[in-house]
Amino acid sequence: MIYSRRQFIKSLGIGTAGLLLSTLNTSLLAKQQNTFSNSFIVPPLDVGKRKGDHVMFNLTMQQGKTQFFQGINTATLGINSHYLGPVLQAKKGDTVSLNVNNRIGEESTLHWHGFTLPAAMDGGPHQRIPNGKAWSATFQIRQPAATLWYHSHQYHKTGEQVYKGMAGLFYVDDENTSQLGIPGSYGIDDLPVVIQDRAFNRNGQFRYLGMMPERMHGMHGDTILVNGVVTPTLQAQKTVLRLRLLNGSNARIYNLAFHDNRAFHVIASDCSMLSSPVKMNRLILAPGERAEILVNLSDRNPVILKSLRGAIRASGMMGMMMGRMGFDREFDIMRIDPRQAEISTYKLPRTLLHPPKLNMAEAAQTRPMEMDMAMMGMGRGMGMMRGGGMGMMRRSGDGGFTINGQSMDLRRINFSVKRGTSEIWAVSNTSPLPHPFHVHNVQFQVLSRNGRQPFVHETGLKDTVLINPDETVRILVPFRYYADSKRPYMYHCHNLEHEDQGMMGQFTVV
Ligand code: C2O
Ligand code: CU
Ligand code: CU
Repeated sequence: MIYSRRQFIKSLGIGTAGLLLSTLNTSLLAKQQNTFSNSFIVPPLDVGKRKGDHVMFNLTMQQGKTQFFQGINTATLGINSHYLGPVLQAKKGDTVSLNVNNRIGEESTLHWHGFTLPAAMDGGPHQRIPNGKAWSATFQIRQPAATLWYHSHQYHKTGEQVYKGMAGLFYVDDENTSQLGIPGSYGIDDLPVVIQDRAFNRNGQFRYLGMMPERMHGMHGDTILVNGVVTPTLQAQKTVLRLRLLNGSNARIYNLAFHDNRAFHVIASDCSMLSSPVKMNRLILAPGERAEILVNLSDRNPVILKSLRGAIRASGMMGMMMGRMGFDREFDIMRIDPRQAEISTYKLPRTLLHPPKLNMAEAAQTRPMEMDMAMMGMGRGMGMMRGGGMGMMRRSGDGGFTINGQSMDLRRINFSVKRGTSEIWAVSNTSPLPHPFHVHNVQFQVLSRNGRQPFVHETGLKDTVLINPDETVRILVPFRYYADSKRPYMYHCHNLEHEDQGMMGQFTVV
């Protein structure tokens, strides 16, 4: 919980009515003693207005107020809603039109994370929507079924806007997946689970970026929200549930597990089904990453989805510091109560997807991507100290967050690739902190981690991959569709504070 009794009383200050004090105070204390008292919320499903294969969505980015705590209105942002947005749904082959109205009081963008699409439709930092104006994206969905998402991508403001609520899920369906017989009734046995951590100030408002360590590590909070609700309870309606997990947090990495250590099956990664279900009892999910899991609750025992320690692999002094500052701690995420659930009749499919064949021989080249942080006197040798010296710190400005020694410059295209080719990117991390590396417009395959096989649950198509300190992750990146010599796509760290401080670059497909 966010308040100790004393902090809370102090926060009300002088002149607050005694009545208000006792009301708020009691309800917050009640919550402290009774966690999981909030009900799980299923966000509205928006299937748009369909005419044949064309589907139109109307989205308004707006300001809102949300009661995360009873009796306290927190100022938030949302899409057609007070906090977060609807789950959009369309299918492979559809042409979607997304009409976006910006009413949040400042400039913003809306990015379709995980989609392959024309650069002008990407909703990245170049497709800015001034406050009060509209923007529209139209593109054909040319990728397999997956749980994708959308969020603000306003440069230097992405972290803050997403933190306040500017995000939502986007489901893509296809024929293969609908024939698998896996749970698929929205809100019944197919459930969106957007996990976010937030910090609140004494007035119950979001607290965003205070001290310097928060800039370095990214914004972490001590309150867990699931679909915008503090550690809720889900009354399961079926005994087998498909949970579509999104780590929608700015910076926190989760090590997900059930409290009784029960196994679950991972069936999908960011951008596709896996070739077959993978049994696990731990799942590390970095910001921006998604996973779909199937959990069997036919024993009728309530379970708690937790995040365990061990999510972060920071090295040296930085690791110690993160431990001490509570960046790597245990959390309850949500509780699932299956006591009233109906029995699911269902068989786990052996095969989920015949994966596209890897063709490494055809990769046009191997491109190094070195993620680094050039900051003074912290941790062990950072890339800067090994190579470029202090000059790099001055050149990159901000916190010195760089990829290949360069900090983001909206006017600079870092490189171009050829449409129809693919490349191997060797993404390395010479800094002492973990970085989730994300690429726009592509669905890549993870080839290896430090020369070893990738984790089984990341063998599906992906758009974001966690790179721990001293790791090099090789990914095969195809550039199948869409070319534009002028407008770039982004690649960046999906720790949103790192991204906002320049750990991002741009490429074109020509
Ligand atoms: Cu989730 Cu560049 O984005
Ligand atoms: Cu993206
Ligand atoms: Cu980072």
